[in-house]
Amino acid sequence: MGNRLIGYGSYLPERIITNFDLEKMVDTSDEWIVQRTGMHERHFARDDETVVDMATVAAMRALENANITINDIDMVIVATTTAELDFPSVGVQVLGRLGATNSAPAFDVRGACTGYIYALHTARAFFSAGIHNRIMVIGAEKMSRFIDWSDRSTAVLFGDGAGALIFEHSSSSYSGIIDTVVMSDGGEFDMLHGTPDHHIIMNGPETYKKAVSLMPEAASYIMEHAGITADNVDWIVPHQANLRIIQSGAQRLGFPLEKILVTVDKHANTSGASGVLALSYAFDNNIIKRGQLVLYPAFGSGLTWGAALIRV
Ligand code: ACO
Repeated sequence: MGNRLIGYGSYLPERIITNFDLEKMVDTSDEWIVQRTGMHERHFARDDETVVDMATVAAMRALENANITINDIDMVIVATTTAELDFPSVGVQVLGRLGATNSAPAFDVRGACTGYIYALHTARAFFSAGIHNRIMVIGAEKMSRFIDWSDRSTAVLFGDGAGALIFEHSSSSYSGIIDTVVMSDGGEFDMLHGTPDHHIIMNGPETYKKAVSLMPEAASYIMEHAGITADNVDWIVPHQANLRIIQSGAQRLGFPLEKILVTVDKHANTSGASGVLALSYAFDNNIIKRGQLVLYPAFGSGLTWGAALIRV
C-alpha cells in the first residue's frame, strides 16, 4: 500500500536575526558565519511563542493547501526535541488547538535533526500496514530556546520554524513516501547532545566529519534500494545544517549543485523542522514542482541519520 502527498504548509517566526545582529550578541562576525556555514539570517520565535504555536500554524496551512479539515486527518506525527512541555505531546496539543473531534492519535518523535526522517519512516510504516488513511507529519523546533550565548561555536548555527506535510493512502507505491531508512549510533553521544539546562554541546569538527559521510551513505542506500541513480532524482533536499556539509555531500554523491535545495542561508539549522520547512519553502517559491522525485538525507544528535525518497 502506498501514499501520496496532498498538502504542505510552514511557519517562520516574524523576527529575523541577521549575522550582523549576532555580532552584537556574541563574539563573531558575518564573514566567519558565512564562510564556515553559508548562513546569513535565521528566524527566532518570540519569548511567548511556543513549538505548539508554530506547529499549529504550519498544520493549519497544510490543511488549507490540501483543502481538507483536521477531522480528515487520522494520525499526527511531530518531529521535535524542543517542546516546552514534556507532556502531552505537541501532536495532541496541535489537534486540540485545531479543534479535532475524531479522536485521531498523535505523538512526537525525538530524532534531533533526523527527526523528520524518523517521522516520515513511521508514517510510511503505518501506510504499509494499511491502518491509517491520512497522516500529517510535522517538524517544529524552537532552537533559540537552547542557545548558549557563552558558546559562540553553537550560538550562531540555529533558527526556529515549523513545516507540515499531509500524506494520503494511495494504491500507487511510486508516489508520496516511497522509501525510508533510519539509523543511529548511541556510542557517539558525546559528539552532540543537549543538557538538562537546555544547552547544546557539540564537537563541531567531529560532527562535520560524520555528517559528510553519513548523509551520502544514507542517500546511497536509498538509491540502491530503489534501483535508481542520481540521474533519476530531481532534487536533493539535505538537512540544512551547514552549506559546506551540503556541498561536500552532493559532491560525494555526484549530484550537480543545481539539484541541491539550499535554505540554510535564510533559515539556519532548524533541526527537526529543517527538511519539511525546506520542502514547503521550495513549493512556495516554485523551485520544486509537484510530481518530482526528491531525495531527503539527514543526520543529527544521537548520532542519528537516515534518508527518505519522496515523489512530491
Ligand atoms: N565566530 C567566530 N569564530 C568562531 C566562532 C564564531 N561563531 N565559532 C568558533 N570560532 C572560532 C573557534 O574558536 C576557532 O578559533 P581558534 O582557531 O582560534 O581556536 C576557529 O573559529 C575554528 O573553529 P572550528 O570549530 O574548528 O571551526 P570549523 O571550521 O569546524 O567550523 C562549525 C565550525 C561551523 C560548527 C563546523 O564545525 C560545523 O558546521 N560542524 C557541524 C555542525 C552541525 O552540522 N551540527 C548539526 C547537528 S545539530 C543537531 O543535531 C541539534
